Amino acid sequence: AEIMKGSFPHFMLKEIYEQPDSVVNTIRGRVDFNEHRVILGGLRNYLSSIRRCRRIVFIACGTSYHSCIATRAIFEELTEIPVSIDIASDFLDRKSPIFRDDVCIFVSQSGETADTILCMRYCLERGALCVGVTNTVGSTISRETHCGVHINAGPEIGVASTKAYTSQFLALVMMALQLSEDRISMIKRRQDIIDGLRELPELIKRVLELDSSLEQLAENVLHKEKSLLILSRGFQNATCLEGALKIKELSYMHSEGILAGELKHGPLALIDENMPAIIIMTKDSHYPKVMSALQQVTARKGRPIVICNEGDDRVPDIEHVIRVPGTVDCLMGILTIIPLQLLSYHLAVKNGVDVDFPRNLAKSVTVE
Ligand code: G6P
Repeated sequence: AEIMKGSFPHFMLKEIYEQPDSVVNTIRGRVDFNEHRVILGGLRNYLSSIRRCRRIVFIACGTSYHSCIATRAIFEELTEIPVSIDIASDFLDRKSPIFRDDVCIFVSQSGETADTILCMRYCLERGALCVGVTNTVGSTISRETHCGVHINAGPEIGVASTKAYTSQFLALVMMALQLSEDRISMIKRRQDIIDGLRELPELIKRVLELDSSLEQLAENVLHKEKSLLILSRGFQNATCLEGALKIKELSYMHSEGILAGELKHGPLALIDENMPAIIIMTKDSHYPKVMSALQQVTARKGRPIVICNEGDDRVPDIEHVIRVPGTVDCLMGILTIIPLQLLSYHLAVKNGVDVDFPRNLAKSVTVE
């Protein structure tokens, strides 16, 4: 294991730093940048059935569930198929109705999560078309689904998922691109996203350069805190949820991802001069509303830490601003999660947590 970690002290840090390469591996051989086409070979024989379906149901757990949330909006926008998302255990608890004209997509890094497997078998029995999105060739989910996509991120050892998330995110965006290739009204939008895919690895490298400033943020500002809120909306909702999950599992600090639109419905009561709140305000159509959330936090003397785009001069003069490069709105979450992965890593190290094996958690949860 020491050799596999190379020069990195932990697998998690190695896997965070692998992301410029793991995203290339997800894309490799599947995107024609000149023709602006995406070809996922594993879906080839099922494309017309998927396009004809009545709805798409994403089912997953943990970080994989967040990758579904991250890509739902672009899936619906490009395909015009309604998408719903379920946590596997909750789907089973509800015995949710599933029909023959549903497409069910099971997203799982390991392909072996018990709850997700049980959902898959439930949906297979009801005649739905079942699609697997996994990182593990030969896993139960990749074997038992009708078709699927391997994310090709390479083995992930750290219990806290990092590179699998960004590759799942990408694989799902690529699936939406492939499903929508006949939609004339989406030509420009699809081209912009495909051009965005090409520059992603370089942009990820630039985000990784923020590492030492995030270490300082962990050291000087956050590691003794009891709680940390992460706020945004729209495309960045998933980043909030996934960032908060990383911080919980690794620093044992309470953290919560909150949709800015829900602030007034309760969470605002948590804000006072002691409460740190990370606010993700990247340049997209939701920016003005996220700005107003920032103002609500500062008006209540909260302690904002802003993640925004390079060159954004509308951000008020606050002490902690983390700037990431920009890309097309629906891919931005791949760049904004990385600072939170790095932050949670450094919080874990500062708090003496066994980074690759946080207490009480397992890489693959094979029991219900
Ligand atoms: C465990 C892992 C998480 C993972 C989740 C779902 O909780 O610690 O990192 O996101 O299971 O696993 P899967 O393999 O189905 O993606």
